[in-house]
Amino acid sequence: MAAHILVLVLLAFTCSLTDASDPSPLQDFCVAILKPQPPVFINGFVCMDPKMVQADHFFFYGLDMPGNTSNNVGSNVTAVNVNQIPGLNTLGVSLARIDYAPYGLNPPHTHPRASEILTVIEGTLYVGFVTSNPDNRLITKILYKGDVFVFPEGLIHFQFNMDKTNAVSISGLSSQNPGLIIIANAVFGSNPPISDDILAKAFQVDKKVIDLIQAQF
Ligand SMILES: *[C@@H]1O[C@H](CO)[C@@H](O)[C@H](O)[C@H]1NC(C)=O
Ligand SMILES: *[C@@H]1O[C@H](CO)[C@@H](O)[C@H](O)[C@H]1NC(C)=O
Repeated sequence: MAAHILVLVLLAFTCSLTDASDPSPLQDFCVAILKPQPPVFINGFVCMDPKMVQADHFFFYGLDMPGNTSNNVGSNVTAVNVNQIPGLNTLGVSLARIDYAPYGLNPPHTHPRASEILTVIEGTLYVGFVTSNPDNRLITKILYKGDVFVFPEGLIHFQFNMDKTNAVSISGLSSQNPGLIIIANAVFGSNPPISDDILAKAFQVDKKVIDLIQAQF
């Protein structure tokens, strides 16, 4: 009996260690109370009374509308996660539309909590990700309309529109709240800034180079 319990505990522990995305739900749904947020902080959001749940809690509209790509990088991400659809709370999935101006770039970034599967709806993208240490291998592919590509959880990746026409992609992500770290912004544009002594040593360049890059953010 005790041995059985031990095996179960070990199994549960192993499962939680190998779980690569959001924890599984413990009920049909747990529609988030986003506003006003109750004064408790849990992993995810507090559920509303299931009797109050309506179709609109699982609904979003307007993903046919392109995002505005008139910015420094020429891309725009329209995220559809738990913050837009409260019914996604505890379900471990979300969606994003990415628009790219000609030669627009979705700059190197990571999602700390999600793998991503992307399909090209329009245009041509050069995409890639970098494996973790010690190899830091760059894995890239040119994607055409209808192609699908995967970015594994946590790895740095990017998408670049190679063409002189607009491009559009749609991504599924394995978290209700994938998170986003844009490498350049996080490293050179943090608030307050990381000291240029630290970054000069890390990047093996003169502090002036660091100051110049930091001034861009
Ligand atoms: C993305 O597009 C939306 C809708 O056009 C716009 O409100 C938002 O400011 C854009 N974001 C960026 C970073 O350009
Ligand atoms: C897109 O954003 C730019 C810069 O913020 C702005 O000038 C322009 O009016 C926006 N375009 C649309 C269609 O909203």
